[in-house]
Amino acid sequence: MTTLTMEKATQYELKLAERMSRLGTETAFEVLNKARALERQGKEIVHLEIGEPDFDTPKNVVEAAVSALHNGWTHYGPSAGLPDLRQAIADEVSRTRGVSVSSDEVVVVPGGKPIIFFSLLALADEGDEVIYPNPGFPIYESMINYLGAKAVPLRLHEEKDFSLDVDELTALISDRTKLIILNSPQNPTGGVLSRQDIRDIADAIGDRNIMVLSDEIYSRLIFEGEHYSIMSVSGFKDRTILLDGFSKTYAMTGWRMGYGVMRPDLAAHITRLMTNSNSCTASFTQIAGIEAIRGDQSSVEHMRSEFQRRRDAFVSGLNKIKGFSCRMPKGAFYVFPNITQTGWKSKKLADALLEESGVACLSGTAFGEYGEGYLRFSVANSLENLNKALERIDQWTKRNL
Ligand SMILES: Cc1ncc(COP(=O)(O)O)c(C=O)c1O
Repeated sequence: MTTLTMEKATQYELKLAERMSRLGTETAFEVLNKARALERQGKEIVHLEIGEPDFDTPKNVVEAAVSALHNGWTHYGPSAGLPDLRQAIADEVSRTRGVSVSSDEVVVVPGGKPIIFFSLLALADEGDEVIYPNPGFPIYESMINYLGAKAVPLRLHEEKDFSLDVDELTALISDRTKLIILNSPQNPTGGVLSRQDIRDIADAIGDRNIMVLSDEIYSRLIFEGEHYSIMSVSGFKDRTILLDGFSKTYAMTGWRMGYGVMRPDLAAHITRLMTNSNSCTASFTQIAGIEAIRGDQSSVEHMRSEFQRRRDAFVSGLNKIKGFSCRMPKGAFYVFPNITQTGWKSKKLADALLEESGVACLSGTAFGEYGEGYLRFSVANSLENLNKALERIDQWTKRNL
């Protein structure tokens, strides 16, 4: 029975909690549904809306999960994650971020998203201020609002290759700032915070007792420069919650596994939130996670270089289209062209490209108010499909501009 018929069939009014009116969403899933509906009507769509690798999970990881299932990894496990996986993550983070991390500082959760939710649940009281990037991953703003905290957007600037302005950050920090969210490489812009940016941000925070949620889910997808975490800055380990995971690095979006690295006292509270919500992350999945981290890494580099090739081709193609101007993103697998010269608003243009040209992309406004004037395309699709999309967008602009 659909929700609609349910609404008609029941005499009982649905009395939602007030907080539900403050919950946002991730538009990518809505656009995907709309695109699928058009496909059911016979239209052919190029899908550049959803943020997931188009590659399969590496074989060795799949095989590890299959054998884990055969070997009885089908039961509850500890809420914070299997000790061996926590240790593998601690070793990996110690090596890549140059800090010493122990396994009791790691909490394994079903995806990167729960770390965002749990960190905010654990730290943000009503009225507390949380600074977050805008345009940025929409779940930050959604969850901050849902919890009744105050969402304080920090604008990212195209002129700075979608890095942030540290003076603006300094001006936003107040006595009520509880948490600052950073995301590098960034969704939706592909911007990357340099080592100097991170050091300037750390200086701006100084020795204030403010936590930083550092969303590094795209840490292995970097095309220029290096990945640098604020966790590596002296004095920041105790104030950083590092979010990373398996979804993007190992093409494991549907497996639902990610992790947070944080001081052990906070890790114990995030673990209590796990006990209260999911109990634990699926056990056989975690066994595969150990293989992902400790096994052959060649598929990670293969995906990274393939995304780079596609990025180069797509950005170059977009820049030849009337009204589009696009910077070269330094990481992740998104491109974020400026479309103000088309004279169209972002949402209207994204809708028109889907309905009239069969190209599914996202309006920049799906990532916050400062996303107006931009579109987001995911290049996690074949070069052939990316070229098809470019051709269709070009034709559309020739018809309409
Ligand atoms: C910036 C950012 N953080 C977190 C996530 C969530 O990742 P997961 O699918 O592992 O929950 C995403 C997914 O798109 C993302 O773009």
